[in-house]
Amino acid sequence: KIINDYLFDESAFDYHDAAFKALIRPDTKRRALKIPAILKADKVEGGTIYYTIHAQVGETRILDGKATRTWGYNGSLLGPLIQYESGKHYHLTLVNELPEVTTWHWHGLNIPGPIEDGGPHAPVQPGESKEIEFDVHQPTMTAWLHPHPCPHTAEQVWRGLAAPVTVVNPLDNLPQLPHDWGIDDIPVIFQDRTFHDNQWDYQADYDMDGTLGDTALVNGTANAEFTVTRPWLRLRVLNGANRRELRLNTDKNIVMTQIASDGGFLPHAVPLTKIMLTTAERAELLLDLSAYKKGDQLLLKADDTVILTLTVGEFTEDNRVELPSKLKEIDRGFTGGVDHQVIMSGMDDAVKINGKLYDMTRIDDRQEIGKNEIWDVSNTNDDMPGMGMIHPFHMHGMEFLVLSRNGKEPYPNELGYKDTIAVNPGEHVRLLVEFNVAGIFMYHCHILEHEDTGMMAQIEVFDPKHPKHWNLKDLCAK
Ligand code: C2O
Ligand code: CU
Ligand code: CU
Repeated sequence: KIINDYLFDESAFDYHDAAFKALIRPDTKRRALKIPAILKADKVEGGTIYYTIHAQVGETRILDGKATRTWGYNGSLLGPLIQYESGKHYHLTLVNELPEVTTWHWHGLNIPGPIEDGGPHAPVQPGESKEIEFDVHQPTMTAWLHPHPCPHTAEQVWRGLAAPVTVVNPLDNLPQLPHDWGIDDIPVIFQDRTFHDNQWDYQADYDMDGTLGDTALVNGTANAEFTVTRPWLRLRVLNGANRRELRLNTDKNIVMTQIASDGGFLPHAVPLTKIMLTTAERAELLLDLSAYKKGDQLLLKADDTVILTLTVGEFTEDNRVELPSKLKEIDRGFTGGVDHQVIMSGMDDAVKINGKLYDMTRIDDRQEIGKNEIWDVSNTNDDMPGMGMIHPFHMHGMEFLVLSRNGKEPYPNELGYKDTIAVNPGEHVRLLVEFNVAGIFMYHCHILEHEDTGMMAQIEVFDPKHPKHWNLKDLCAK
């Protein structure tokens, strides 16, 4: 059955917010979609792969006329594709060339917290660098890198810091899906920014409920165009916006086959013509353009605004494969009582988790490593009945399964592993959570301004065989 709607609670969509800004198509010439380069290893030594990632200041030509002052990783805006292979060991050098403190958070990687994970406890001061090491053990998936300093995550992401990350697990037993980066395997990093005389001004555009921009960017490209040269296209869509919900559709309503969500392949492919991704969510979509002829165009839209033009060129190679009916074996049959409660409440400056604001020195919850536990995540707005907004709830350190939404089956494209889940107002979402690495991890609303305001908490994942005492410091530069 083809899904033809956005599934979520329409009355809570961001476009009902009084501060909502609709997207406009920028008055600038069409530019080729930027494809992030693949980060090269510094060296490979005794099974360890070495990468260096600089956070830096630069300028990027986005609109006609003046270049925009932007921040990026190993470049002026966004960053290169950072590839990990499951089973390997990595050594990273993180270099901060920004004028302020930052962190490198690996959103979607299941690595120890709070240091390697790169949340607010792992600052790198301006002009300094830091080395971390970790093993990667997880399925094939699309993740991402972004800064996470307290409380300036939103502003640093707005300035341009974000990069695509992939994990490849050689044990995934699937036919060869499109995987030529930039040819038939394309990142679609969606963001929105307002230009002030070609510049970005976070303070001017700041909104406590999540900052919106009026111009859509894909991979940092405004009015982007991509030339298709193979009949199947694999789009790795990431909603990298601070607040905006991405309601993705096409002018021809073509069927897009979702094969993966945040944490990798879905159990079964899900055909859809519309998909909503809230901030930080990912979806891998397969588009079959084999019926298109040279010169044909397909327009990708966010709401009613074109964000990316796909123009068919010459098909140089046939990359179609038989998609198996089962992509991945996932056992969702777990029952039990609720072990953890998370209540997201409020709007604007009143946002809270379980009635509290984030405190870096406080451990809000604990869970034992290697144990399946049920989390009940809800979204209430009792002070303002009838109002409310969708909060995208994100957890660090593992990928969870969504068991139910208000007691019912989750949406059909939520049956795989995820790390961010949109929660409608008045809803309880049950998650099955198992951590396989120990440490301190954040969980929070991924509307970045909510996170910075304090709609965030932290959990200690403990290993009873190796108890640890945490002496957490308040590094939040309020
Ligand atoms: Cu994408 Cu705590 O972050
Ligand atoms: Cu994260
Ligand atoms: Cu929120």
